Amino acid sequence: MNKVTKQQRTGPVIFSQYERGQGIRKAFEIGRENILYELRESKLKGRGGAGFPTSMKWMLAAAAKGNEKFLVCNADEGEPGTFKDRVLLTEYPELLFDGMIIGGFTIGAKQGIVYLRGEYEYMKDNLEEYLEDLRKENLLGSKIMGNENFSFDIEIMLGSGAYVCGEETALIESLEGHRGESRNRPPYPVNTGFNGRPTSVNNVETLCVVPHIVLKGGSWYSKFGTNKSTGTKLFSVSGDCENPGVYELPWGTTINELLVLVGAKETKAVQVGGASGVCIPENQFNRKLAYEDASTGGSIMIFNKDRNMLQVLENFMEFFTEESCGQCTPCRAGNVKLLEGVKMLKSGDYKKEYIDNLKSLAKTMQVASKCGLGQSSPNPFLTILENFSFIT
Ligand SMILES: Cc1cc2nc3c(=O)[nH]c(=O)nc-3n(C[C@H](O)[C@H](O)[C@H](O)COP(=O)(O)O)c2cc1C
Ligand code: SF4
Repeated sequence: MNKVTKQQRTGPVIFSQYERGQGIRKAFEIGRENILYELRESKLKGRGGAGFPTSMKWMLAAAAKGNEKFLVCNADEGEPGTFKDRVLLTEYPELLFDGMIIGGFTIGAKQGIVYLRGEYEYMKDNLEEYLEDLRKENLLGSKIMGNENFSFDIEIMLGSGAYVCGEETALIESLEGHRGESRNRPPYPVNTGFNGRPTSVNNVETLCVVPHIVLKGGSWYSKFGTNKSTGTKLFSVSGDCENPGVYELPWGTTINELLVLVGAKETKAVQVGGASGVCIPENQFNRKLAYEDASTGGSIMIFNKDRNMLQVLENFMEFFTEESCGQCTPCRAGNVKLLEGVKMLKSGDYKKEYIDNLKSLAKTMQVASKCGLGQSSPNPFLTILENFSFIT
């Protein structure tokens, strides 16, 4: 197993000092309106990948009609190459649960649910023990910290082992005991979510940032990063480098800077955003990790000169073929076709026109698929073919 280096678990926000309960105390002092104000100032965007502004999501959930509301933590972490939420769940539960309690307080929910990736079952007992401690300290349960107007509890539910269950509407279906399939939107979960009630679904990392923003202010947070991508981000770095692991870095860090930090040598390509992300070749390593440039929910995979990128692509497309839920044709049939194309390219038995048709199919999938899985699964196909010349 790789050792955690000094540069890991250090960072100005998530990996900085925090004592459990601090953020909740401050949240009660400043009240709901000011929490939303600080979140707006921070310009925090959801860290699950889609990058929706968290202040907006919580404002909509707070404004939604109905007494029964839910705050769901998306801990499904199924994107290949992402393992930063695992570190937060095991090493920083105080941040996650304080973030959930603040979220519940802000939107007016009484119940929080952690949708925990099935493969993370081994964490469940520890997390439940932690929740029990919070209840004993009156940080969870009835009238939290003596606040007459706020009671909130958290339950942990195990995920069902499908990648698509990380998509928030499929996750809600799964929570309700159904097959994990995405829903049509609108209506959005903030209005019609778990059991038809207003529900805010937030990524683990997003929730872990909230207590720090509440404590230190939105303008403090927005000083990190770039104008359009404020704050810091956790990156799960894997592949061909000396020090893989989880790093907290400001948005705007270039791929080159990251490669130096993790001790990557002779790098040929970096896959940013996991299997559903984009493949970036060496001549673009000056690009920035940011929503406005190379965006990612956290996964960074490094491939050195010895790697066969067609083999990499075949692995990704096999994954999507397996994980497509089959509801819509562009994704169900499209991923199979793209995988066939990769196999043809590998064998050398292909016609250029056929591969060109597949590229156009990939673009159709990006716009015609029902959910983010089929909309993003063509990304590696298009970028790997574009950046590495396999077609002669
Ligand atoms: C196929 C697919 C898988 C996803 N998996 C995850 C996941 O594992 N964790 C996560 O937080 N978001 C995942 N998302 C994004 C969620 O749908 C949603 O945008 C996110 O949980 C919202 O939280 P945030 O606003 O804090 O980012 C996935 C989306 C898609 C399309
Ligand atoms: S895009 Fe894929 S995963 Fe999403 S609904 Fe369609 S078939 Fe299912």
